Amino acid sequence: MKQSQKTESGDPLDLMLIEHGLHQDLCDLLEEIADSLPNRVDGKKARQAADALKNDLPLHHRIEEEALFPLLVKYADDEDNVDEIVARLNDEHVVDESFAEELVEVLENLARGNSLEDANMFGYMLRGFFENYRRHIMWENSVVLPLARRRFPADGLRELSSLIAELQAGPIDQGVETPACNGECEDCKT
Ligand SMILES: [Fe+2]
Ligand SMILES: [Fe+2]
Repeated sequence: MKQSQKTESGDPLDLMLIEHGLHQDLCDLLEEIADSLPNRVDGKKARQAADALKNDLPLHHRIEEEALFPLLVKYADDEDNVDEIVARLNDEHVVDESFAEELVEVLENLARGNSLEDANMFGYMLRGFFENYRRHIMWENSVVLPLARRRFPADGLRELSSLIAELQAGPIDQGVETPACNGECEDCKT
């Protein structure tokens, strides 16, 4: 489940729609895994879902939080209530990413062929996640993207395209940085 780098049209809002389609596919995959618990889980599908939750989902959220939403705030009218909409969606991203981390741990175990400690609980967690996430996507597709389409001028769309390209080119892992070598490391001595 790889996120597309660009659309045929080059339209950044079309790209967001395509990514949402991929995330709907991810939700379907998670539902398939939930339905195949406890003993019929396909390890390759568990790996595929874990990779998408670990990489594609956070990158998509960064694109929304650092590119789409700020531009929406910039170009929306007062009557659009975008501050409220954006705050709600940002909160949902935090909850979903934290939930996704827990799912990834178990999915990676399943992908290694390990059995589950509590299949019922994992099924419950999976269903909680994909049901919420489907609602999140539906809200963005029905409210946020149409609003952006109405409000963004051509310059806004260009700005969004270039911000997306920058974020896609950046490191996916925003975690702990490796400290710079001080000339004393094992690699330098050999
Ligand atoms: Fe979102
Ligand atoms: Fe989204």
